[in-house]
Amino acid sequence: IKLKIIDREGVLHEVDAPTDMNMNLMEVVRSYELAPEGTIGICGGMAMCASCQCYVLSDHQLPEKSDDEEAMLSEAFFVKDNSRLGCQIHMTDDLDGLEVELAPAED
Ligand code: FES
Repeated sequence: IKLKIIDREGVLHEVDAPTDMNMNLMEVVRSYELAPEGTIGICGGMAMCASCQCYVLSDHQLPEKSDDEEAMLSEAFFVKDNSRLGCQIHMTDDLDGLEVELAPAED
């Protein structure tokens, strides 16, 4: 599937993401090195750090947030109504064309 990802510098990247490798959005961002090493995916995708927070810009219907994702986002900085944790968004065919913007790094 094709994704549009706006990095933390505001640069738009159009990337291909596989749907058959059980990858999540955080891993896609890392595989294309769209955020510096160590600033995204810090907890390894456990919904425990919010370093993978992104804003969903397209109107794709994403699966509901888990309780863990809700809890993490309630504590994170820079949270907006359209915030999601990238590590909780798994690549599926219906996400073709998804557009997201990476939230600022917390540091
Ligand atoms: Fe830590 Fe997503 S990588 S919450």
